[in-house]
Amino acid sequence: MADLRTNFLGIKSPNPFWLASAPPTDREVNVTRAFKAGWGGVVWKTLGEDPPIVNVNGPRYGAIHGADRRLLGFNNIELITDRPLDINLQEIKAVKRAWPDRAVVVSLMVPCEERSWQSILARVEETECDGVELNFGCPHGMSERGMGSAVGQVPEYIEMVARWCKQHTRMPVIVKLTPNITDIRYPARAALKGGADAVSLINTVSSIVSVDLDTFSPNPSIDGKGSHGGYCGPAVKPIALNMVAEIARDAETRGMPISAIGGITTWRDAAEFIAMSAGTVQVCTAAMTYGFKIVEEMIAGLSGWMDSKGYATLDDFRGRAVPNVTDWQYLNLNYVTKAHIDQDLCIQCGRCHIACEDTSHQAITAMVDGRRMFTVKDEECVGCNLCVEVCPVENCITMVPMAAGAVDPRTGRTVEPGYANWTTHPNNPMARQAAE
Ligand SMILES: Cc1cc2nc3c(=O)[nH]c(=O)nc-3n(C[C@H](O)[C@H](O)[C@H](O)COP(=O)(O)O)c2cc1C
Ligand code: SF4
Ligand code: SF4
Repeated sequence: MADLRTNFLGIKSPNPFWLASAPPTDREVNVTRAFKAGWGGVVWKTLGEDPPIVNVNGPRYGAIHGADRRLLGFNNIELITDRPLDINLQEIKAVKRAWPDRAVVVSLMVPCEERSWQSILARVEETECDGVELNFGCPHGMSERGMGSAVGQVPEYIEMVARWCKQHTRMPVIVKLTPNITDIRYPARAALKGGADAVSLINTVSSIVSVDLDTFSPNPSIDGKGSHGGYCGPAVKPIALNMVAEIARDAETRGMPISAIGGITTWRDAAEFIAMSAGTVQVCTAAMTYGFKIVEEMIAGLSGWMDSKGYATLDDFRGRAVPNVTDWQYLNLNYVTKAHIDQDLCIQCGRCHIACEDTSHQAITAMVDGRRMFTVKDEECVGCNLCVEVCPVENCITMVPMAAGAVDPRTGRTVEPGYANWTTHPNNPMARQAAE
């Protein structure tokens, strides 16, 4: 059976599955239940200075659901912990003592002043927790007060606070990044420059999930008004995966430890982030939707897949996807595919035809010899994959690569062997300039 043990910055946990800083990690009773269920670690709900902040007393969540009511995207306007600092610290100490083999990291957010960070770090150290995560990510409420994403959006502030923290604590320092920024590499580089040991990402994406068409209030509605919140859950996974990839392959931050967060719901999501170099994965929405026991499926699924692939430890596949992430200009333009429809699987719903007919290249028939039949016209198909994505039957449509030497009936050109990309393509004016 695969060994899922994880050592992240010297912080050991029996598996890479940590609960992200959020309601599931807000108090001792929750964290104890989580550890009993099998979670490898937690990042405690963000602590701030006393007096504690105040949350709204009405709805704080909104969501986007799929047609089957499955939760796809989740939105919240909750702030950091609203419990007194002392109580949180006592509980963190008790939990760490009771669960020495689990990771207990404490998330922090205080004003952007050195003495505020110095003072809270000293108190957190006394809990004997394993590390701290600096919350530079929350996009609502706290950011208007100059904290959270207001810090995470200014690389100079990130670097400055990370440096203070490294000066004032012996604990590992993880910087949690906001996705509400144009290029994630800049804040990650700033964290590294400030001496941070790792980055974690993503925090939530600024969002308004819906508007009530009777009251015209954004949801969640507090007495007829709403404010933007933070979006998370399965819908944000692609955003997070791309940002993790950007940091993993950037010349300046390559090799920096990453704790990945964002929409992780299944063992597959976790494996993908680990393949993209994550040291641990953090989960919030999936636990809030399905409960703590979801970790059992994550552990069983990940170790079963690793066994089937012959990976004994997480290091055996960590980062394996990173070299395969490239820029568009380096993609192989000699790679030619055509859609193929498996007539035995086709239920003749017609979705592929209408999608291709209306919005792609009119390459799928609806009728053949006077009867309903869906087949691909290779002479029109550009290989775009739209039909695969809209077909309701998995694996009914597949993309089949053309062999080198064959003639593409769409272009009349022979498929060239080997690799050729845009940088040398004759239509590329820059390539022409370079050649002249
Ligand atoms: C209700 C709620 C409260 C959250 N509170 C915090 C917080 O206090 N500190 C923090 O760093 N992130 C907070 N987050 C963000 C999560 O830790 C996580 O970064 C985000 O939800 C993305 O992960 P997910 O898609 O698994 O939910 C919160 C998220 C939710 C849904
Ligand atoms: S791959 Fe694109 S062009 Fe080809 S049949 Fe499918 S939708 Fe049409
Ligand atoms: S979308 Fe899929 S199932 Fe429907 S007609 Fe096309 S190939 Fe058949």
